[in-house]
Amino acid sequence: MKSIYFTTPIYYANAEPHVGHLYSTLIADIWKKACVLLKKDSFFTSGLDEHGQKVAQAALQQGLSPQDYTNSLSFRFIDFFESYRISFDKWVRTTDESHKLAVQHFWKILKDRGHIYKGSYVGWYAVRDEAYYLDSELVDGKAPTGADVVWMEEECYYFKLSSFQSQLKQFFLDNPDFIFPKKRLNEALGFLQTPLRDLAISRPKKRLTWGISVPDDPEHVIYVWIDALVNYLSSVGYPDDSYKQYWPATHIIGKDILKFHAIYWPAMLLAAGIELPKKIIAHGWWLRDNAKISKSLGNAVDLEAMKEKYTIDGIRYFLIKSVNIGEDGQFKEDSLHHIVTADLANGLGNTFLRVIGIFETVFGENASLNFSYSFPPLCNTIQKLYDTLDLLTLEPQIMPAYAAMIVECIGAVNEYLQVYQPWKQEDRTIVVNQVGFLLNCLKQIAVLAYPIIPCASEKLLSFVGCTPDLRSYEANLPCNFDFSNKPVLFPKK
Ligand code: MSP
Repeated sequence: MKSIYFTTPIYYANAEPHVGHLYSTLIADIWKKACVLLKKDSFFTSGLDEHGQKVAQAALQQGLSPQDYTNSLSFRFIDFFESYRISFDKWVRTTDESHKLAVQHFWKILKDRGHIYKGSYVGWYAVRDEAYYLDSELVDGKAPTGADVVWMEEECYYFKLSSFQSQLKQFFLDNPDFIFPKKRLNEALGFLQTPLRDLAISRPKKRLTWGISVPDDPEHVIYVWIDALVNYLSSVGYPDDSYKQYWPATHIIGKDILKFHAIYWPAMLLAAGIELPKKIIAHGWWLRDNAKISKSLGNAVDLEAMKEKYTIDGIRYFLIKSVNIGEDGQFKEDSLHHIVTADLANGLGNTFLRVIGIFETVFGENASLNFSYSFPPLCNTIQKLYDTLDLLTLEPQIMPAYAAMIVECIGAVNEYLQVYQPWKQEDRTIVVNQVGFLLNCLKQIAVLAYPIIPCASEKLLSFVGCTPDLRSYEANLPCNFDFSNKPVLFPKK
């Protein structure tokens, strides 16, 4: 059986990490945690895109060599992700020796198969996008993305992108689920409505030294996007055949880098004779006042402050629950506050306190509960959550709906409390049954919510005595409550 293999973009090592980077990586992390919970073999890679003019310029501005500069950024990105409880299987850096060899190998394969030729480039280049533009594509003298462009006339190598036009079109038509959401598939088809031009894929070393050398022509370095895209192969061992244990991958990307992933990358893979990716999931942007949040626009959210106030789980939950993958989202503190208070503090947090409150009132701190009792409608709601998590490991785009189902399950526990009022029961056997049942439901919900809100889930599970080996949906509740350590799952704001 192959691993479920998924990737995030590798991030430009030219600025501090922000919410946009967190979003792609969080989607992958939740996917990973779901696979681990359900014991499905998976592999999740993320990393840093370190070469190219943009990074070289940023290093220069800091008065550092590119390598020293990217070394320190690599640590900062890893710390940033770890502080949100994200754990990848592989952190790839394009300056890794093994990656450089993989890129050169990939280049040689394209060259040997006749897809690369030497020519000269005359046209515009936008350093911010690391992309080439035609005169006719410029808007008010800038790239369509708003990036500044510079005129370039230089010798370079070309990739014969134009020869893959009809093959790509046919592939998209034959595989309508290749790109999620559908509107991005249509956008990719739109790119194919005009003839594709061959792609300049090298820069002369006299202009740019910070990159991987073209094999057999050390006067040129490889275009940063080829270098970057090959990380999806080098991360799992390419060119060694072991990469086939993982490949093909699902690529989680932002909508702005669709063309590179939906057109250039599949064309290069076709040229190299390598299977195409399994799927592309293109998410939208986090916006502030309708503008994409980015370091260069200076409109980044102070995530550290938000994290202090609303917890790691709060941020994770808000990013996933409040926007459908593929749509843009407004990052507003009001919305974050509302969603964390309603769903997490008042929802999961209060319900947990209510149930253990009943336990304490009725039994003191000790009781041998009975777990044989069950109430099918509530069990079915939680079973549905479990089944949906299983589906999520195949279709991660359902993540926001999954988050909403966690809240439904909490709602169902509350409804049970309201209807059956265990604290009013006179028959002790009934109370023992009901409280045992409800605690077991909360345990199951905490287990299933772990991929999205790992910190609260762990606190709840530790309180009910679930050691890590018992943190599965099926395991029985051990009932070693630690009342001296009653956790606050979500501090009220
Ligand atoms: N280095 C390239 C990717 C190479 S992948 C082989 C790159 N890096 S980036 O750092 O500029 O952007 C990485 C990702 O972050 C992109 O998918 C982009 O869409 C995402 N985001 C950056 N800002 C964003 C938001 N404000 N909102 C959501 N995601 C956005 O492109």
